[in-house]
Amino acid sequence: MGRVFVAGSINMDVVATAERHPKVGETVAGEAVLYFPGGKGANQAVASAKQGVPTTLIGRLGTDAFGKELRTFLAAQGVDLSFLKDTSGTHSGTAIITLANADNTIVVVPGANGLVDADDVAAPVLAEGDVAVSQFEIPLPTIAAFFGRARAAGATTILNPAPAKKIDKALLDLVDVLILNETELGLLTGAELRDSDDPASIAEAARTLGRGKTVCVTLGRRGVLALVEDQPLLVPGREVRAVDTTGAGDCFVGALASQLAIGKQLGDALAYANIAASICVQRMGAAPSMPTAQEVAAILSPSRPGRDDEAVRKAHSSNQSSHPPPAPV
Ligand code: RIB
Repeated sequence: MGRVFVAGSINMDVVATAERHPKVGETVAGEAVLYFPGGKGANQAVASAKQGVPTTLIGRLGTDAFGKELRTFLAAQGVDLSFLKDTSGTHSGTAIITLANADNTIVVVPGANGLVDADDVAAPVLAEGDVAVSQFEIPLPTIAAFFGRARAAGATTILNPAPAKKIDKALLDLVDVLILNETELGLLTGAELRDSDDPASIAEAARTLGRGKTVCVTLGRRGVLALVEDQPLLVPGREVRAVDTTGAGDCFVGALASQLAIGKQLGDALAYANIAASICVQRMGAAPSMPTAQEVAAILSPSRPGRDDEAVRKAHSSNQSSHPPPAPV
């Protein structure tokens, strides 16, 4: 069985909940301030580790109180932290999030994440069958160095280009599986895409990212559209009651990586990751809302009595002790 290596960001998510999002220049009264472990790299690593697949997170924390809390949380989720560095002179990554009607806006201040460098990603030794995962909350040259080493070792590379930035061709050429949403696809391809676009137009835009690459476009509640060897494959979304979509894309990426590492076919891995993300959105917070392999299996085998979203939700809320409680201010 392969392993998953994630090079990426670790943030403390400071979440203000409100009835609605403020408009630019407007102030609205909030309801609560909550603290959740997050960051795209950490979220994806937790999602993978919780599927029972050996998962290593390469990244940096500040030597502040958030850094200590994040390290403790990640260790408790079973993520290998041998290549996680504490860095003095800066703060841990911090995301300021507003959450209203299950949707969020996010401002990320990178802090230590901005210092993850080529030496950091050179430390772990990857092997054939492993999966290397990254996103755009650490410097892009670091990601290129990481994927270059991964490719040389025969590992599969997965890039989640979020938050969206232009990618140069040299980095894109190092990617085996690209996972992005419609907004990111629009930015990378220059295509004008809307939520309501039909799968054929999305597939057409995805095709321009180059042949020989698997492109997975996450479509929120509509599911995911993948281009596999140039053939479109649509995995429909699941109807669930979302309370917080923060980290759902990361859950998809981490769960998919874990399934590819254990040798699953792409179609099965996509269906699995789609279910994992549908569980994630039914819970508050990013990293603490990642489901376990048992929870995903319970939805995949609905014939087992009492195994549905409601049962999974109840089991999760009565088993919150493995996650640090959100700290009220
Ligand atoms: O993808 C969600 C994540 O984006 C949050 O956890 C936040 O930290 C930002 O990195």
